[in-house]
This record gives sequence, C-alpha cells and structure tokens, in this order.
Amino acid sequence: MAFLKKYLLTILMVFLAYYYYSANEKFRPEMLQGKKVIVTGASKGIGREIAYHLAKMGAHVVVTARSKEALQKVVARCLELGAASAHYIAGSMEDMTFAEEFVAEAGNLMGGLDMLILNHVLYNRLTFFHGEIDNVRKSMEVNFHSFVVLSVAAMPMLMQSQGSIAVVSSVAGKITYPLIAPYSASKFALDGFFSTLRSEFLVNKVNVSITLCILGLIDTETAIKATSGIYLGPASPKEECALEIIKGTALRQDEMYYVGSRWVPYLLGNPGRKIMEFLSAAEYNWDNVLSNEKLYGRWA
Ligand SMILES: *[C@@H]1O[C@H](CO)[C@@H](O)[C@H](O)[C@H]1NC(C)=O
Repeated sequence: MAFLKKYLLTILMVFLAYYYYSANEKFRPEMLQGKKVIVTGASKGIGREIAYHLAKMGAHVVVTARSKEALQKVVARCLELGAASAHYIAGSMEDMTFAEEFVAEAGNLMGGLDMLILNHVLYNRLTFFHGEIDNVRKSMEVNFHSFVVLSVAAMPMLMQSQGSIAVVSSVAGKITYPLIAPYSASKFALDGFFSTLRSEFLVNKVNVSITLCILGLIDTETAIKATSGIYLGPASPKEECALEIIKGTALRQDEMYYVGSRWVPYLLGNPGRKIMEFLSAAEYNWDNVLSNEKLYGRWA
C-alpha cells in the first residue's frame, strides 16, 4: 500500500502524459492509401461504412459476411468510391475453417495485409438468460473464438507489415447490462484476450498494434431492431463510428471509444486497472519468460 501511494502520482502523470500525447497525433486519410485491409461483418451496418470510408481513402479492401448478394453490392460501391481494389469472400464465422482460409485467401488477393478489422457479431435478442447454453456457446464462437482464429491466421502477414488489428467491442464488454449476458460474456472475453496479447507483443517486440474499440449504441438497422422498445438510450451515427474506428486503429491506439458522451471514456478507461497491470508486470521474471519463449515461442 505504501508502495502504491508513493508511486501513484508518478504513474498517474505518466498515463496523463501518454493520453495527451496520443490524443495529439493527427489522423490523415492518406495513412490508408494503398493499405491492404480486411473488414469482417461488412455486408451492412458499421462494417459496410468502414469499407466505404476505406474505399474513399484509396485502400485495398477484402470484405466478408454471409450474404454474397449484399457483399457484391458493397464491393461495387467500394470501387465507385475509389478503392485501390475491392473483393469479397462470403462465409460464416461460425465455421473456423472458413475463418482461417478466408484470411489466407484475402492475403493472396491483396498480396499481404496491413489491417485486420474484426467487426462481425452474432445477432442477439435482448432477453433475460434462462439457460440457453447453445446461445452462449454460439456467441463465444462467433464473437470471440473466430476473432482469435482470424488474428492467428493474419499474424505472419501483420508482423511483416507491422500492421494493426481492430477488435470491435462494446461498452457491454467493459460494464454489464441486463438482457445480453451471452453477448456481454463474449465482449469481455475479447478484452481479456486481446489486451493480454497486446502486452505480450510489447514484451516480445512484436510491432502489431491492437485497438479495442468500445462502442455505445449505434444506429445500425440490426442494433435498432434488437433494442427497439426496450433500451431507450440514444444511438450514435454508424458513419462517424466507422470513421473513428479507422482513425483509432491507424493511430495504433490501445483503445478507442465511440460512446456518445465525452465523459464515458474517462469513466471506463479504468486507471486502477492500468496501474495494477503496470505494477504486476514488475513481478515477473522476464529473463526466464523470454528464454522459454525462445524455446517454445513462435512470434518471438
Ligand atoms: C511500428 O510500426 C509502425 C507502423 O509501421 C511504425 O511507425 C513504428 O515506427 C514501428 N515501431 C517500431 C518500434 O518499430
């Protein structure tokens, strides 16, 4: 406790300086010009808007979702908007074999990969949990497990390009809301897994950024349909949301917030957690960990 008190101020100042510094970096659309980007869940909603923004910025895009017809339209529009190239590969993220093969195929189409935007999500009704275990399993598979599979498949290309991963999550992946237990579980899992991975990359000097995107309610058709008459909070525009996701990811921020209120990021940023993580890192014997990594590791 004495230790905590002694260093609290210093640590807080470091974090404040860090936030100030990262907020000062400027995004330029040219950052995405010619970049090779995968967008999942891109047949509609936020994913489709992300693809359109990327197209306007002159990026190469490969989009995926289940609906071939919808993806064809997205690709056609991307080309109109100025994409360097645009392709689609249709498939279901319930199928891990598809997820893995999709990344390889997308990489072949673009000749590499700079940015992996993981945005797809299982449609979930707002309802009390009364034992629907299959729904929990499916939510974890689609919203969490496939994100891991896609990232693993993309890592060799992302390491080569010193690229970025965007993990689209939710305020419901930081705090709990009634009626969405399976969804919330999968979004919390993303934070646990990808925030750990980010800290490991730092230790291993793997220069692949991971941006956890914390979104509030967005005015997509799906979200409006799911929350209609039940959740009365305001919904923010998907077009701006999509742009903010691209910005945060291109600037290699650890987390980005798009939540409607400018105070929410400070409340959810959880300085207590950051201080604990910082302090616990000092408790490891990194020499031993890193020499084991050399023996067994694949990303070191
Ligand atoms: C990590 O990659 C980014 C993007 O390529 C680059 O700007 C930055 O300098 C790299 N950092 C290190 C330590 O190599």
